[in-house]
Amino acid sequence: MTGTKAAGAAIEATGLVKSYKTKDGTVDAVRGIDLRVEPGEVFGFLGPNGAGKSTTVRMLTTLLSITSGSARVAGVDVAADPSGVRHKIGVALQEAGLDERQSGRELLTLQGRLFGLGPADAASRAQELLELVELTESADRPSKSYSGGMKRRLDLATALVNRPDVLFLDEPTTGLDPASRLVIWDEVRKINARGTTVFLTTQYLEEADQLCGRLAIIDDGLIVREGTPSELKAELRARRSLDHDPTLDDVFLDATGRTRERQAGDVQEVQA
Ligand SMILES: Nc1ncnc2c1ncn2[C@@H]1O[C@H](COP(=O)(O)OP(=O)(O)O)[C@@H](O)[C@H]1O
Ligand SMILES: [Mg+2]
Repeated sequence: MTGTKAAGAAIEATGLVKSYKTKDGTVDAVRGIDLRVEPGEVFGFLGPNGAGKSTTVRMLTTLLSITSGSARVAGVDVAADPSGVRHKIGVALQEAGLDERQSGRELLTLQGRLFGLGPADAASRAQELLELVELTESADRPSKSYSGGMKRRLDLATALVNRPDVLFLDEPTTGLDPASRLVIWDEVRKINARGTTVFLTTQYLEEADQLCGRLAIIDDGLIVREGTPSELKAELRARRSLDHDPTLDDVFLDATGRTRERQAGDVQEVQA
């Protein structure tokens, strides 16, 4: 039970840093970011490949140690009380490790049992979530027979088993076809409408524009822009004295210093 929430941020990070130690030296993946996400928001974390999005999500969700700085999620300090945080969050990671021999229903029921539900409660929670993500018809087939979009919806459902206050989604639609992407957007809206705060990373500008009330753009481990999509567009329009409204694409390219020409011509970008 979540009870009445004290007025506090859903996510608050101060000076968050992650340096990976590798045999070739140190990689400064996240170089000091501040974040504040209010309860009920859908907050977008946008950035090119390698910008530090997944590293940030992994720190906020207790999966990776914080090199320096601090973070609170759902009011709980991530470093001081990781298990307290884990009880209040749901996470769907970029590379999900679902056991594909199990059906969607089996996976969700197992997840419920791991969170301490009894057999009957776990079964009814699984059914409720299958309905939410519209997988009831395929619920009893092994998940390896699911399409990419169906697998992502199952990931989403799995992250909701413990009724999280804050849901973290790391690139929930990367690699999906446009129709499946729209279905995921609908699911995210539904989940948010039920009161869950959503922190979502994406490489897709349109996704952020459609879903997120506010967003931050991260590049090379630092936040380079933050605001509502319309604030970010208005800022660029004013700064460049444009006679038309720029798109979020324009904002992104301006913020990350990547020109359209360089993107097209840069072999590394294409391979990434
Ligand atoms: N386990 C790791 N060890 C060393 N470097 C890593 C590790 N994971 C990520 N990195 C590096 O950290 C940077 C940020 O990576 P990541 O957070 O995965 O970015 P994004 O999710 O935005 O694509 C990249 O330069 C990446 O190569
Ligand atoms: Mg990533």
